[in-house]
Amino acid sequence: MANMDIGIDLGTANIVMTMGRKGVILTEPSVVAFNKKTKRVLTVGNDAYKMIGRTPEYIVAIRPLADGIISDEEMTQCMIREFILKVSGRQLVKPRIIICVPSLITEVENRAVVEAALSAGSRKVYLIKEPIAALIGAGIKISKARGNMVVDIGGGTVDVAVISLSGIVTSNSLKVAGNKIDQAIIKYITSKYKVLIGEKTAELAKKELTNLENPHPQNTTIIKGRSLISGMPVQLEISEVDVYNAIEETIFSIIDAIKSVLEETPPELIGDIYDNGIILTGGGALLGGLPKLMSRELGVRTIVADDPITCVAKGTGMAFRSLDSLLDGFEYVSQYKYR
Ligand SMILES: Nc1ncnc2c1ncn2[C@@H]1O[C@H](COP(=O)(O)OP(=O)(O)OP(=O)(O)O)[C@@H](O)[C@H]1O
Ligand SMILES: [Mg+2]
Repeated sequence: MANMDIGIDLGTANIVMTMGRKGVILTEPSVVAFNKKTKRVLTVGNDAYKMIGRTPEYIVAIRPLADGIISDEEMTQCMIREFILKVSGRQLVKPRIIICVPSLITEVENRAVVEAALSAGSRKVYLIKEPIAALIGAGIKISKARGNMVVDIGGGTVDVAVISLSGIVTSNSLKVAGNKIDQAIIKYITSKYKVLIGEKTAELAKKELTNLENPHPQNTTIIKGRSLISGMPVQLEISEVDVYNAIEETIFSIIDAIKSVLEETPPELIGDIYDNGIILTGGGALLGGLPKLMSRELGVRTIVADDPITCVAKGTGMAFRSLDSLLDGFEYVSQYKYR
């Protein structure tokens, strides 16, 4: 692995980048701010995130990837280019780049991602699938003839896959993940308390109050929103039980998706998964009590990878070592290897 090699996890919520032996060098929200008058990118990541909802008419601050797909191709390209330039600067050696793209994006969008990376001065660009990168990042030797199951719960998608011999055997992707869980909390608070809360408030409540194992009415937090009755700002106290009731259905739909992948998996590999356990990655792996709930519902031990939010990016960086041996993860390699 050369020192300049760049790994990118292009997530719906966060973009995480690695460089050479340094490992993870950047974790920032996948947001771009663009000036429509000058047709130039103003900024990306943390600085652009702060501008969301606070821009004058001629500036847009948006998340160009939503629900695990590219909703604005041009802005996605601008964002990728800017992030690559941000970390690689004006180096003379052109980097090689491996990008992990959302599993539901189309062939045409894949090409747009690769073109953006090439235009930022990379020498070669490879694409890798999220479950493959997630398992490599979790330290699993995926080239063996042994089955491993990974469940990545991101902001926009849940990816479930069984991998053996470096290839995906069975898989499923759902457009239900962190964002939909936040939406479920907003909907619940609206209907129970007649208070409208924002997405950031819902996300904070989720991080603080999710207890899928044993929700307690005494564990509470204060949230602020707008009363739908008076139209005025109000604050209210919500508990772990509220959050549990709000998100239960969404969580069980994710568990059902995992069950359906297990049902399609050949029996030898099921035996391996029983022995190895299920690896949980992505920000959703941090939902309080989720590993225990999954272990109970699926009858298989569930293990959260170390630092689950950067796990996919780490795997993307580590994949440079196995460029030759990866199969499915690099199926676009020949197509995009050279410009
Ligand atoms: N402590 C936490 N508890 C619960 N959820 C969390 C926690 N920390 C982060 N999250 C959620 O994880 C999600 C982001 O995870 P991640 O960075 O893995 O997504 P992503 O890779 O950008 O998305 P995708 O893989 O779907 O494209 C967000 O929905 C965020 O609210
Ligand atoms: Mg992700």
